[in-house]
Amino acid sequence: MISCKPAPKPFWDNAVDAYIFFVSSTLSGTADKELFNTINTHATPSILDTCKDAQFKGDKDQCITISALYNGKPVQYILVGLGDTSTTKNRHAIREQLRRGLCSAINILKKRTIPTAVVSFPCASIFGVEENELIKQMSIAAIMSDYEFSTFLNDKKNKRWNGTLLFAFDTSDQDLNKAFEKGIVIGNATSLAREMDDLPGNIMTPLEVAAQAKKIAEAHNLSYTALNRQNAQDLGMGGFCAVDEGSEKEGCIVILEYKPQKTNAPTICLVGKGITFDTGGVSLKPSQHMDGMKFDMSGAGAVIATMNIIGALKPNVHVIAIAPIAENMPSGKAARQDDIVTFMNGKTAVIRSTDAEGRLILADALCYAEKYYNPDIIIDIATLTGACAYSLGHFYTGLMTPDDELATQLHSLGLLTGDKVWRLPMDDDFKAAIKSDVADIANTGSSAYLAGTVTASHFLSNFVEKARWAHLDIAGTAHEVPGINYLGKGATGAGIRLMTEFILSFNA
Ligand code: BES
Ligand code: MG
Ligand code: ZN
Repeated sequence: MISCKPAPKPFWDNAVDAYIFFVSSTLSGTADKELFNTINTHATPSILDTCKDAQFKGDKDQCITISALYNGKPVQYILVGLGDTSTTKNRHAIREQLRRGLCSAINILKKRTIPTAVVSFPCASIFGVEENELIKQMSIAAIMSDYEFSTFLNDKKNKRWNGTLLFAFDTSDQDLNKAFEKGIVIGNATSLAREMDDLPGNIMTPLEVAAQAKKIAEAHNLSYTALNRQNAQDLGMGGFCAVDEGSEKEGCIVILEYKPQKTNAPTICLVGKGITFDTGGVSLKPSQHMDGMKFDMSGAGAVIATMNIIGALKPNVHVIAIAPIAENMPSGKAARQDDIVTFMNGKTAVIRSTDAEGRLILADALCYAEKYYNPDIIIDIATLTGACAYSLGHFYTGLMTPDDELATQLHSLGLLTGDKVWRLPMDDDFKAAIKSDVADIANTGSSAYLAGTVTASHFLSNFVEKARWAHLDIAGTAHEVPGINYLGKGATGAGIRLMTEFILSFNA
């Protein structure tokens, strides 16, 4: 596991084993000049000479490790290229390059089992943010880079690299210290959620998800409630029960609440889909489509992780997470096609596919949010539709909302955090897709309308009457994202950074 700490000054006297620098295509252009020059003149051979010899020009994704002597002690200089950083457009893309570069450097530390390193970032303005924001984002990126799911790898788990990464910044600046600490909190909560998501359905059962949520609640003094199957039935949650009853493993609806000091703070509800395994139910998935369905609780993981962060940071915002958690199984007690269910708000739906189970459990959770918390804003997050992964791929979470202002805000926070969203339309024309002759609505869109991600959002919209609302479909972003090194192999923690910053933006 990585341990991130602020580097005491002077940075070059830290007796570390390695120094990490970032370099744009024009060498010496962006690195911390003071640190770089000091080291450069004390190192033999000089870094600049070695770079010239190795033709290291700071190109994008170019990395070089230089072994040298610094004041007689052997050290490694890890230089990471950022490419051309002079462009004033797309600063978020250069910032993303920095996250990935940091991950590349950390991977070198791991591979060579280098115990300690100082990392020095270029001037924040290159990345279009203040230094505190940059420090925060990079401490998150460092922790995300280090995450791996090795719990069950007997050979690997005890041999994990335990290194220390010292961040070079002015520790007498309280703003920077706070930003750094915030990043650590966000990063650690993200890793915890990724572990929950990565754990398979036989271990991360509905009750185990609840137990994790309870632990987090206790750590931060959040109120914790878990409604069981019977409670859900008593509340008239026909959608949730139709899914939950198919499994031997009883599910629950977990509610975490954070109450701020301030009394008139805005109320935000986060609702996250928690299907611990999605077989499709009696509308059974073919086995190749069942691949990855242990990740179908990533929405719940994300809202629980966000509460973990909110509980630690304690902003002046009233935040509630509601996670309906169940396992979607075929069985003698499972729902079938053509079943009609009645939700908590009295609306009815015909089940055209038991594999469209996420919207059934979310519907009741949304009703519950509105009825008991009267929130100003609801954000729901779910691995809801395969269609979303097809249309947007792995780099953008699908965003659907009737609220233009929310859309703009979430889009720009996506660019800020790297946890990106792309809006899909919600025109009324799509509503006809979920019409039914036998119930108020159907749980799948008619094939004539296509756009399964959008029609799913219309289904959900039936259960939000008063609050401003946005729906995030993380089917493509929650796991197995290719080509982004700091997101690793399995779960990514999609939506956590985004929802956290969204909530913090209301802190007053
Ligand atoms: N969990 C799936 C969605 C999913 C698919 C997430 C692939 C990640 C990767 C969801 O419950 C589901 O099965 N949705 C159906 C909906 C359809 C029956 C309308 C789908 O996408 O096929
Ligand atoms: Mg899981
Ligand atoms: Zn499904």
